[in-house]
Amino acid sequence: MTEIIKINPTNPEPELIERAAGYIKQGKLVAFPTETVYGLGADAFNADAALNVFKAKNRPPDNPLIVHISSIEQLGTVATGISEKIEAIARKVWPGPITFVLKKAERVPYAVTGNMDTVAVRMPAHPIALALIEKSSPIAAPSANLSTKPSPTNASHVINDLYGKIDAIIDGGDTFFGVESTIVSLVGEPVLLRPGPFTVEELEGIFGKISIPDEVREARQSEKALAPGMKYRHYAPKTPLFVVYCSMDEIVGELDRLHADYSIICSNETAEGLGKHSAMLLGSRSNMYEIAKNLFSILRSIDALNSKFCIIEAFDERGIGLAVMNRIKKASGLQGIYSKDGIAYIFNALAHQ
Ligand code: TXA
Ligand code: MG
Repeated sequence: MTEIIKINPTNPEPELIERAAGYIKQGKLVAFPTETVYGLGADAFNADAALNVFKAKNRPPDNPLIVHISSIEQLGTVATGISEKIEAIARKVWPGPITFVLKKAERVPYAVTGNMDTVAVRMPAHPIALALIEKSSPIAAPSANLSTKPSPTNASHVINDLYGKIDAIIDGGDTFFGVESTIVSLVGEPVLLRPGPFTVEELEGIFGKISIPDEVREARQSEKALAPGMKYRHYAPKTPLFVVYCSMDEIVGELDRLHADYSIICSNETAEGLGKHSAMLLGSRSNMYEIAKNLFSILRSIDALNSKFCIIEAFDERGIGLAVMNRIKKASGLQGIYSKDGIAYIFNALAHQ
């Protein structure tokens, strides 16, 4: 049985937080909201609880979890080798949607770090998450979805994926950003491992230049696995998804001429240009935060439409747009359409499935 605990996201009820924190301390699994996406939490110092997180999600054991803390004082209990400079940066950016990879402290079990000597750490900017950690312990948590599905941005996504498999789900409404945290390795020179709501532009304000490996920029799966999660398929709907890098208008015109059975995901502005066509709306192109917030929910709903394939608009890779495009590219398995001639590619790809 999974208990659903509804908690006020801006003013969490202390007695409900105590109950959920009690479960964490007993080694149970509790899903909870953060400002990015929902996490599936376990006591970060309890190896058995961490192993159960992998089991519930069906997550490959070498894809490590992020450890969530609620104060800078806790940082020293989960990571070592923290220079004054790193501590000063952490104080500046936390709580917030940015995760740092650091050297692991001995107390953190290898089950949490996927057998690595490094640990990913962040302090989430969400009242429920902060209160829960404060009343229990540092919490190891990946996103609270089944492996390969988009991360959950509300409690019903978590219920769909994990009901019956975990002990409790805190329903704290919608998350704020809708895409997962930015990950930066600070083990050597700073390297961006995953783009997120904390933008490259903001990172450069703190670190100066930051290195962005090609596979991160291009959202490629990587065997070398800078962040082990990069080895694995992500967010992918069953319905084949193609990113349209040219005029949506032109592609839709051509697909209609060919009587294709497809659906469309795009911005409000682009949808207006498509006239009578119905599309799944991501929001206004002039507000990439709105697009980020709606993306995973819409990716989750594609399969229910039962169309043969789906096309999705491409966005500028600036600000949070880099994170949005990174998730869209991953969901598409890097299948893109660059001109009208690319439609032959779609039909070819579909024929080979
Ligand atoms: O916003 C977020 O980051 C959310 C919320 C719940 O905090 N968490 C999340 O976790 O999205 P998830 O499912 O993405 O898993 C953690 C990611 C994986 O991509 C993993 O490869 C990377 O963090 N990671 C964890 N430990 C790492 C390490 N020691 N070195 C490199 N990458 C690491
Ligand atoms: Mg995840």
